[in-house]
Amino acid sequence: MTTPDLAVREAAAASPTLEVLAERARSCTACPELVATRTHVVPGAVPEGVRLLVLGEAPGAQEDESGLPFVGKSGRLLDQLLGEVGVSRAQVGVLNTLKCRPPGNRPPTRLETRNCRGWTERQLALAAPQVVVALGLSATRWFLGPTSLAAVRGRLHEQGGYRVLPTYHPSAAIRFGPEGEPRRLLREDLALAAEVSS
Ligand code: URA
Repeated sequence: MTTPDLAVREAAAASPTLEVLAERARSCTACPELVATRTHVVPGAVPEGVRLLVLGEAPGAQEDESGLPFVGKSGRLLDQLLGEVGVSRAQVGVLNTLKCRPPGNRPPTRLETRNCRGWTERQLALAAPQVVVALGLSATRWFLGPTSLAAVRGRLHEQGGYRVLPTYHPSAAIRFGPEGEPRRLLREDLALAAEVSS
């Protein structure tokens, strides 16, 4: 019997382009609770020929409303910090480990993460970025498995053919405020990613 994660893998593998994949992901039915509660699937945004890509956790309320990744508070801070290190959003691929919003912004379950994995793996293969910035613990663990941000943040890790740079999620930078350590380190890590990918 085909399981939801395998069905996703097959649909993703059979997608020749990012556009075709996004279209297929928009009708994904792998996670019944997310299908029942979502407004839009948020496949992500990957401009042609990107060298730098960021991976977040999952869409929030505004992303679910619009169908676009990182358009809420976290997205605005991400845009600002990217701008401060000389990168515009138009040059950056933006994906999430989950393409649907978990109700109430609860953390993704292990099953949801597994079900959705095939979409993201294929997106990464098609985009072939020089560097992937993993924003926060979920995205970091998506690449590196069980670990803590403290153990791996701020350094490039070779993983599955990608150079992965784990860092804070913008929501942590917001939570700790403009003078907080997470914001300073997130900016520093984005600067490193910009340099390495240019
Ligand atoms: N947080 C994320 O991780 N991703 C989004 O798209 C928005 C908020």
